[in-house]
Amino acid sequence: MNRIVKPTAYGTPDVLAVIEGPEPRAAADGVVVAVRAAGVNPIDWKLYSGAFHAVDDDHKDAAGLAASMPTLGLECAGVVTEVGADVTGVRVGDEVIVYPVTGAYADYVTAPATSVVPKPAGLGWAEAGALMLTGTTAVHALRAAGVGAGDTVLVHGGSGGVGLMAVQLAGVTVVATAAERNHGLLRELGAIPVAYGPGLAERVRAAAPQGVDAAVDCAGTDEALDVSLELVADQARIASITGSPRRAEAGIKLLGYGPGQDAGTAVREAARGELVERAGAGALRVVVDMTFPLAEAAKAHEVGMAGHGAGKLVLIP
Ligand SMILES: NC(=O)c1ccc[n+]([C@@H]2O[C@H](COP(=O)([O-])OP(=O)(O)OC[C@H]3O[C@@H](n4cnc5c(N)ncnc54)[C@H](OP(=O)(O)O)[C@@H]3O)[C@@H](O)[C@H]2O)c1
Repeated sequence: MNRIVKPTAYGTPDVLAVIEGPEPRAAADGVVVAVRAAGVNPIDWKLYSGAFHAVDDDHKDAAGLAASMPTLGLECAGVVTEVGADVTGVRVGDEVIVYPVTGAYADYVTAPATSVVPKPAGLGWAEAGALMLTGTTAVHALRAAGVGAGDTVLVHGGSGGVGLMAVQLAGVTVVATAAERNHGLLRELGAIPVAYGPGLAERVRAAAPQGVDAAVDCAGTDEALDVSLELVADQARIASITGSPRRAEAGIKLLGYGPGQDAGTAVREAARGELVERAGAGALRVVVDMTFPLAEAAKAHEVGMAGHGAGKLVLIP
């Protein structure tokens, strides 16, 4: 059997249910993977919050679920259990990371073979399952902000899933905003931490008297936007992964899948190899904050929505 965690309606995490179904079969160009760890991301609870889609709970599918309900789980790692007839280079039993993927909140998931990369032996399951979405987003954001040798970059939300990746992947001087409790971790990863909140611009100036060349906004607050605009001389070097009307009006680079945003598909796809290599070599740390059994996905989402320690939340089927 295959347990799948799905929202049964739009709303808060209590709408999540565990549905049982048959194990999926591989398409000719695809694989089936037994999920060992699925990364949890804020997009997962946003998808059924009603924020992106019109609420359509009245139209039910055959299982009695609202027909427009999204599947959850956009990254995972696991073991290949079936390989489609046309697939070469992937075998049953391979330990893999799967990204991009949909529906990874499950015991088994299907994916095109092109989404599969080998899991480095030295990388734990939770870390492997939580590497790709934040890692590829961080690479895209740093690229969009034009971060390169000699720069000082300001990372807003440096202790979050994406922020921790950006801090490590920047390869330049990083000033990172975070709650005080996460400053020690950011220092360990080579960044200069500063607290967000009133007076942020002054604290960043003190931390980086040489000035700030670029900003990566993973926080989405008005403060992050205002301070970026105040400190970064070239507006084209501010990239945000969280859209907002003020950001759109300011004309800064908006990255993601919404209207007018740059999805960076090619950059993100190409980043996967480098991320796996670096994480496998111990040169990129995937910080896992907490793990939860698959059936406790709702609890994981409650913890995520409330704000939590630094790093990722992960589901373990
Ligand atoms: N566009 C894309 O492609 C894309 C991809 C991935 C994520 N996202 C979005 O980007 C955002 C961050 O994602 P994530 O996975 O990194 O989330 P996360 O792991 O939940 O991290 C959230 C971060 O926000 C920080 N934060 C909380 N309140 C803040 C404030 N008032 N000012 C500044 N920072 C504050 C937290 O810092 P402390 O814990 O230290 O307080 C933490 O670092 C989410 O909105 C997510 O949906 C977009």
